[in-house]
Amino acid sequence: MKQHKVKMAKRFLSGFLLVFYCIANMVLQVLSANIVNGTRGASWIWPCHHTLSEPLQTGEISIYWQGQNNSHIVVHVYTKGKEDFKYQSQTFKNRTKIFPDQLSSGNFSLAIEPLTLRDDQTFLEVILAPGNRPSEKLCQTSLYVAALFQKPQIEINQTEMTAACSTKGGYPKPEIRWSFEGGVSRVGQHEVQTTVTYEEDGTYSVHSTANITGLQKVTCDVYNPTSNQTVSSTKDVPPHSPVSPGITAVIIIIIVVVIIIIIFAAYRICKQVQGDGPDQECSLGSGTHP
Ligand SMILES: *[C@@H]1O[C@H](CO)[C@@H](O)[C@H](O)[C@H]1NC(C)=O
Ligand SMILES: *[C@@H]1O[C@H](CO)[C@@H](O)[C@H](O)[C@H]1NC(C)=O
Ligand SMILES: *[C@@H]1O[C@H](CO)[C@@H](O)[C@H](O)[C@H]1NC(C)=O
Ligand SMILES: *[C@@H]1O[C@H](CO)[C@@H](O)[C@H](O)[C@H]1NC(C)=O
Repeated sequence: MKQHKVKMAKRFLSGFLLVFYCIANMVLQVLSANIVNGTRGASWIWPCHHTLSEPLQTGEISIYWQGQNNSHIVVHVYTKGKEDFKYQSQTFKNRTKIFPDQLSSGNFSLAIEPLTLRDDQTFLEVILAPGNRPSEKLCQTSLYVAALFQKPQIEINQTEMTAACSTKGGYPKPEIRWSFEGGVSRVGQHEVQTTVTYEEDGTYSVHSTANITGLQKVTCDVYNPTSNQTVSSTKDVPPHSPVSPGITAVIIIIIVVVIIIIIFAAYRICKQVQGDGPDQECSLGSGTHP
């Protein structure tokens, strides 16, 4: 009986530990997923903290901040008590910073400033190589860099009944979302065409047109998936005559032709009525007979 109780207690304990482990893992994952994406030109801090059983003897270890972009890169090196810039990749020269006085307590955070678009999608990790033990991989992350899009401009073309939304200077490729107000919005009615152009400076330009027939208001949202930011513009569609300029021209021509026909007919009738009578002018202007 007593043995049974001990078994139960052991099972309970291991179950409890498992749940605790899972929760701790989840918390860690949330914490590591919390690293914010960077913005071009700004500084970026990558928090990396390693719990140590005893302070590190910084004079005897090497620490490598390294990663993978298109190729293997060395971002920063600390070895035998000081920073060593000999092997640092060219693209990171003068842009990195660590906190040497905090290394012994396990704070391996790295700062990069300024960020460039070439840093986008860089995989980073810290390698801790203590002199006497095998090296350890710590704190892996991916760095994403955004450039913010300018507020979009909307231009309305009333002849073609289209709205054109354009913006530039952003990175990476954005998502364009139109929203329409007024009129009946049936699916497929407001056909949208979007072109995204890659510019020489590494940013994207966007031009998107939408059919706006029957609408009162249009909004164009440009969403940057890396900065998680949306820039948008809204524009009223000016009221327009129910008939298009083409139809108006045709109607004016028809009216002019009808008037000419009436004048001509009136002239002929006048001539016939006068017939054999005294020769009088058939004046269309006054229409009076003396
Ligand atoms: C880094 O900064 C130093 C001193 O300011 C300068 O001499 C060196 O040219 C810079 N290196 C790069 C790659 O910008
Ligand atoms: C690590 O050092 C940086 C720079 O001093 C500091 O901002 C950060 O709070 C430190 N992190 C921890 C976990 O102590
Ligand atoms: C960071 O950028 C990546 C790639 O664009 C994106 O998938 C992720 O959602 C972004 N994270 C945040 C917090 O916005
Ligand atoms: C993006 O921002 C919105 C609020 O503006 C937030 O609710 C959402 O969680 C963010 N997405 C990511 C991936 O961080």
